[in-house]
Amino acid sequence: MLADHEVHFRGQPILLIVAENDDAAHEAYQLIQIQMEPLPIITDPREAFAQGKLLSPSRKFVMGNVDEAFAQCTYIFEGQTESGGQEHLYLETQGAYAYPTEHNSVRIHSSTQGPTAVQRTVARVLGVGMNQVEVDVARLGGGFGGKEDQASGWGAMAALVAFVLKKPAKCVPHRMEDMRMTGKRNPYSSDYKIGFDANHRILAYQATFYQNGGAAADLSPAILERTLFHATNTYHIPNVQVTAHSCKTNLPPNTAFRGFGGPQGMFVIESALDHAAKSLGIATYTLQRKNMMGNGYEFSYGQVVEQCQATACWDELNKQYPFDELQTQINTFNQQNRYYKKAFSLMPICFGISFTNTLMNQARALVHVYTDGSVGISTGAVEMGQGVNTKMVQVAAHHFGIDTRLVKLETTNTTRVANTSPSAASATADLNGKALEDACLQITQRLLAFAADVLQLTPTDIPKLALKNNTVWVDDRQTTLTWADLVRQAYMKRLNLSAKGHYATPLIHFDKTIEKGHPFAYHVYGTALTIVTLDCLRGTYTFDAVNVVHDFGSTMNRQIDIGQCEGGIVQGIGWMTLEDVVYNADGRLLSNALSTYKIPDVYAVPEQINLHFLQTEGHDLAIFKSKAVGEPPLMYGIGAYFAVRNAIKVFNPQANIPYNAPITPEKVLMALYNPLV
Ligand code: MTE
Ligand code: HPA
Ligand code: MOS
Repeated sequence: MLADHEVHFRGQPILLIVAENDDAAHEAYQLIQIQMEPLPIITDPREAFAQGKLLSPSRKFVMGNVDEAFAQCTYIFEGQTESGGQEHLYLETQGAYAYPTEHNSVRIHSSTQGPTAVQRTVARVLGVGMNQVEVDVARLGGGFGGKEDQASGWGAMAALVAFVLKKPAKCVPHRMEDMRMTGKRNPYSSDYKIGFDANHRILAYQATFYQNGGAAADLSPAILERTLFHATNTYHIPNVQVTAHSCKTNLPPNTAFRGFGGPQGMFVIESALDHAAKSLGIATYTLQRKNMMGNGYEFSYGQVVEQCQATACWDELNKQYPFDELQTQINTFNQQNRYYKKAFSLMPICFGISFTNTLMNQARALVHVYTDGSVGISTGAVEMGQGVNTKMVQVAAHHFGIDTRLVKLETTNTTRVANTSPSAASATADLNGKALEDACLQITQRLLAFAADVLQLTPTDIPKLALKNNTVWVDDRQTTLTWADLVRQAYMKRLNLSAKGHYATPLIHFDKTIEKGHPFAYHVYGTALTIVTLDCLRGTYTFDAVNVVHDFGSTMNRQIDIGQCEGGIVQGIGWMTLEDVVYNADGRLLSNALSTYKIPDVYAVPEQINLHFLQTEGHDLAIFKSKAVGEPPLMYGIGAYFAVRNAIKVFNPQANIPYNAPITPEKVLMALYNPLV
């Protein structure tokens, strides 16, 4: 919980001050003197790699033979990219409070995406069984991945104090402490090499990713893996060799952030394609579309593409906003405006749904039907603004055929629902929704069998029965037997009105020894068209529109899906254009407040976000066939980088713009007048 002998990064907790109020704590703090010997500090992942400092074994995914393929290529392009970190900036900082309970136990209210992770860590710190630690989560003011693994420390500190002093204790960092002490999105430095035949078809792609992991593994090894899974994005590439290194640096341990390494991998392939297109003198979108994958393509990790919506989304978008016509209009605008330049980019996405670690794809739920017909449900899902609570209530109300107001969702609590995976990987609603479905179905089966009795039908009639509109229906005809009556009578007959549900995603597997398998339940697809207007005097820009065709499957809640897309897009634009995490060479965070770390505000939000729902069947492994939506839209934000880059090129075709994100207004301004000045 605290540093032992060596401090690995600035911001690592080394002591804990317990006080009755802030002032007393500060007074105590002033009295502490610490003597430390400086050690060398590494902040750059390539430097760490060169010194052999790795957090986990390096990984390599291979398909076909890149060396042979490059020998056949007509065109080969090579380069380097950098993508920056990202501060989660959840509105609610990290934190926990704890109090002692009966039997030498402790209860913790934690702002965590992973209640079981906090429980496990606290049990280890206290040296007690997990059964003596209860973690309860009401909801989070945002997590975005930052509370998947990094909520445990605060929980452990509060719990330790409560356990030892037998008093309630609260541990909540100030915003600036939170920013300084917690890890962020992993920055990446990457090398790429891409080869084409004479018809501009990709024959080979090779990339090496240097992930800046920070001082401890945290989730970086898993993030590294997802980078490799998404390294070829939506493209058909027959020969692939992608290698990834998780480099140990002296920064706070970097961690999960919406997309979980996927965005970092996609930025590299998109840069490689943009580089190639610009060199070949063709539109990047022509090259992208030409190389789009389809059903039957095998990813480098062995999973075969099914129900692919990559071209469907792209082509629908092109139909709604014809790209060639748009280019013509933009050309006219650009000719008429000396200091304003417009440009656009296309960003297709393909994101795999499931924890990449197969064992984490499991969930449980607990359902009680009370004698008055009201229902209480508990799952392992944590609400952090993404709407999962609403979805869980929808699932129970649907299966019982009752109004949502009869369903109460309880807090997420490790005593009611044990051994939860964190709410993450966009899979929370699928996993917990399916577990909840299992529990609800157990109860409805019992109730319908009983209803057949009450209605004097035979057991063979049970399949004709349904629960709808707070009543029992037979053959699509409403009976007079209400839900409330049914429940009351079932209780009188001593029926079990509670159930525990369980779900483990079927069919998925992955063998790390050969780096092949079928890790994802399904993939989510979509394409974004981003249009930007660049102010070529100031280097500032506004996004006219982000137009998207997205594969939601068969949506179970349109408003939630729209909210997740809009939020994801804006967060992605922030990562790619504004948000600059800066450490100095000593590993001190310089961008440690909102005055020095710029996140998207109302002016940075695109003037229009137009979302089009691609009508598809959905997927059986998605809850109600409504595809996971939490993370995929973030990657549309990558389009913002390329739109801005394209606009700079209109003003200054000579500009030499490295593939470095974020493309902040400062960098834009330099590029606009380089090498002109
Ligand atoms: N939306 C809001 N409002 N707040 C959040 O913290 N986290 C994102 C995404 N959308 C987040 C959010 C991340 S990182 C993930 S993995 C998913 O929501 C988690 O929820 P889900 O699995 O229910 O989609
Ligand atoms: N996504 C998000 N969080 C995770 C994953 C993942 O694939 N694996 C472990 N934690
Ligand atoms: Mo999300 S990065 O999987 O919490």
